[in-house]
Amino acid sequence: MHLPSTYKQYVFDERPTEHITPTTFKCETKSTSDLKVGPGQVLVEVTWISLDPAMRSWLNDSKRAYTPPVKLGEVMRAAGLGIVVQVGEGSRFSVGDEVSGVVGWREYAVLDDKAVTKLPTIAGAQALDFLGPLGHVGMTAYFGLIDIGKIKAGETLFVSGAAGAVGSVTCQIGKIMGLKVVAIAGSDEKVEWLKKEIGVDVAVNYKAPDFRQQIIAAGFADVYFDNVGGEILNLMMTRMAMKGRIALCGAISDYNGKPKGLTNYTSLIAQRARIEGFVVMDYVKQYPVAMKAIAEWTGKGLLKRKFHIVDGLDAAPAALPLLYSGGNTGKLVVKVSRHEAASKL
Ligand SMILES: NC(=O)c1ccc[n+]([C@@H]2O[C@H](COP(=O)([O-])OP(=O)(O)OC[C@H]3O[C@@H](n4cnc5c(N)ncnc54)[C@H](OP(=O)(O)O)[C@@H]3O)[C@@H](O)[C@H]2O)c1
Repeated sequence: MHLPSTYKQYVFDERPTEHITPTTFKCETKSTSDLKVGPGQVLVEVTWISLDPAMRSWLNDSKRAYTPPVKLGEVMRAAGLGIVVQVGEGSRFSVGDEVSGVVGWREYAVLDDKAVTKLPTIAGAQALDFLGPLGHVGMTAYFGLIDIGKIKAGETLFVSGAAGAVGSVTCQIGKIMGLKVVAIAGSDEKVEWLKKEIGVDVAVNYKAPDFRQQIIAAGFADVYFDNVGGEILNLMMTRMAMKGRIALCGAISDYNGKPKGLTNYTSLIAQRARIEGFVVMDYVKQYPVAMKAIAEWTGKGLLKRKFHIVDGLDAAPAALPLLYSGGNTGKLVVKVSRHEAASKL
């Protein structure tokens, strides 16, 4: 395989105090002749990278995060997809294999075999689905609902961040499993999309002046799948049904600053309700069960996928903040390579 003489990568260059800025990341051009593939390693041409809200927390100098921070000067970490273009001695991969792994913000990556997974062949699935419903996004929705939310048909499920990657899959699994779904998102366009395309029962714009009244009108929540934390979580704590469950998936409203605190938590006492955080990686051994179910739903057209695609690695630093301003609908991904495998959509 003929490699270009150089490739690009983006490194973490300046720690943000609040929001990510244009100087947070720096582009470096490297020589491909420095890419040495050792025994049990592969050289991957990166085709797609996933942009995820957790990336903001990787830029903090935190000691107790479940994923260690990215160090200054390191290539920005990112899950992604790629094509194996060279194999080292004894590698279990072959040139041309489509793989997923923590590829980082770069065009080429040398990775250990054990850090790379060959994409399984699933009827009707496309490679990009492994960054969406068949990847960590779908796994988060599935296990958050089933293991933490313990959803049952006929119950009422509220979902915040509902038009995003995890949220839109969560709403759809909720509907497939027979729940009434109330979606919360940040614009009228997203509310319309959730009602018309995703098929939720009620959708509410949290920026509307009567947001609180609309939430009250939607009834009580047996399960609240929380992607955003902050004020919406604080309100939802007062809206839980008896024995309600809050699945604490994420708290994006608090990722760029200091959390302001929850004042309504005592409401959980009277309702015998509980709140429980979870991390999707804890379910990795059970992923095949979720993938089978989700593949069946996507195959039957019951679960729709939506990707918000930005073009080229150079677009990644400016695209990441879209997650915190609500600029994305569906899963935010960057198309890195012109390789034909990256065009199969
Ligand atoms: N626990 C786990 O293992 C796990 C795994 C994956 C993801 N997560 C978490 O799941 C959540 C969703 O992740 P995702 O990848 O699916 O991202 P996403 O929902 O596709 O994108 C983030 C969305 O959050 C909303 N948002 C941003 N700031 C907000 C604010 N201040 N208040 C309310 N909503 C706000 C925006 O939509 P609007 O236009 O609606 O504001 C934005 O589109 C994140 O909190 C993430 O950290 C957790």
